[in-house]
Parts: sequence; structure tokens; C-alpha cells
Amino acid sequence: MIEDKEKYLASVKHAGDYIKGLLGGRKVPEICIVLGSGLGPLANTCEEYFSVPYSDIPDFPKSTAPGHAGKLIAGSLSGKDVFMMNGRFHYYEGYPIETVVFYIRVLGMIGVKTLILTNAAGGIKSDMVPPEFIAIEDHLTFFIESVLRGPNIEEFGTRFPDQSAVYDKELIALLEDCAKGLGIKVSRGIYAYMKGPQYETPAEIRALRTLGADCVGMSTVPEAVCASHMGIRVLGMSCITNMAAGINKGPLSEKEVLDTAAAASEQSCALIKELIGRL
Ligand code: HPA
Repeated sequence: MIEDKEKYLASVKHAGDYIKGLLGGRKVPEICIVLGSGLGPLANTCEEYFSVPYSDIPDFPKSTAPGHAGKLIAGSLSGKDVFMMNGRFHYYEGYPIETVVFYIRVLGMIGVKTLILTNAAGGIKSDMVPPEFIAIEDHLTFFIESVLRGPNIEEFGTRFPDQSAVYDKELIALLEDCAKGLGIKVSRGIYAYMKGPQYETPAEIRALRTLGADCVGMSTVPEAVCASHMGIRVLGMSCITNMAAGINKGPLSEKEVLDTAAAASEQSCALIKELIGRL
């Protein structure tokens, strides 16, 4: 929870100024793509303006999750100026929640208007066959402390933000259209956010299914809530890398998640590249 509003806002502005400085007079990209598992190779396909380790950006946390490089990249992808976050921050890494979303506040304050969040997730709907893709239509987060708890910073957004449409319907339709053109299956689904780092129990998955979840994961929702608080358009795309606990054949493992995400990587990257070109 943010303890000191002025201090947090000053840190956000400081990091924002640093990033703007790296752009050396270029216009600030209005699109940010967060590269979840399997999307890392996208970082190598853009025409780079700069690439900076998170550790060089003032007040940025360090990314500790496996498979997350920890670099902010700015460049041109499919003819559009973009930021790419190669590695994100998860609550399970031990950061305070306002640190997990610090980068959203920074990029939002300097001018990002569209946020594309990608992730790996476990499939709950029984007809899923990993790897396949979900356009996140909505989420469940009510078990978990809100990312907006604590003093509200009016410069970011209102105290009681509407959540009726966190995920932008036009972006979902565009993703579906891109998928159709590329012959890739994308269906709509509800993402249940769990804090992790342990995978869920079969009983938790049964409960989540009863509550209407189609897939489950440990990221994305704090960023989506925070971005929607700032009026940023959000698209969330999950790669189903495994069936969730109790449905999966055998125990869940990070290896299965990373291997399946890597196997789907070409398709995930193609989808996002196509989408960016059509924004
Ligand atoms: N549960 C939570 N997070 C995940 C999963 C899962 O089954 N698969 C990939 N990320």
C-alpha cells in the first residue's frame, strides 16, 4: 500500500523523466506490450530505439521471475512505436503491490494509452487443449487485496473506478480478427487472479470454475486494474500452457508452463505483431 503519496508520485515522475530522456526527443510511444512467458522473442524483432535494464531505471524493481529478462525496450514494431516490458513484476516475488504496478504508473504518466498484457495461464474450461489462447474478457480478483488500496492519487484516477469494462472490447475484437486471419484459435474467457507462487489446489480450481473462471494465473490483473484506473485501454491475452490442478494429467510444474509457452511462442508473437500493425 502506498504510504506516502508525494514520495510515490515523485518516484513515478523521476522514472518517467529518465525514460523520456532515453528517447532523446522522440515522441513517447503510446503502446506498451508486456511480454509474458513465450513472448520474449518479440523483443528481438523490433527496430530498437533503446533497451535498458530495469536496474538502471530509478526506483524500478528488479525482475526475479524465471524466464523474465528485466529490460524495458522502446522501438518500432509492425510500423508502430512501442514500449516492451521484457519481464514483469509479480506479487509472489515479495514486492509491495504498488511496486508491482509502478511501471504502469510511470508509463501511463508519460503517455502510454494502450497496454497489451500477455501471460501464461492454466486452463479451467475442460474443452481447452494447451497451448491455446484466451482473450481476457473479464477477471476475478475479489479474494485479493486491491492494488488501489490506500491513499488515492488523484493524478492517476478516481477513488472508486468503474470496472464494468476493464478490458477493451474493440481490442478483443481486433485480436480475434487477427487470430482468424492467421488461422490461430483464440477464445474469450474469464481470468482468475491468484497470488501464487504455489499453483492452485484442485479444490480451489473447482471453486474457481463454479465462480465462472475459464483460466487462472498469477499476473496481469494488478496491472489491468491500475491501467484502467488511469484510463489506459487494456488488452489481456493468455496462453493456456497447462490444464489447471486436478484437471491436468499429473502434477503442475514450471517446466511444463515454460516449455508449452516456448512451443506456442511463434504463434503468440505473430498474433501480437499483427495486432500492433492494425492498431
Ligand atoms: N496456475 C497459475 N498460474 C499459472 C498456471 C496455473 O495453472 N499456468 C501458468 N501460470
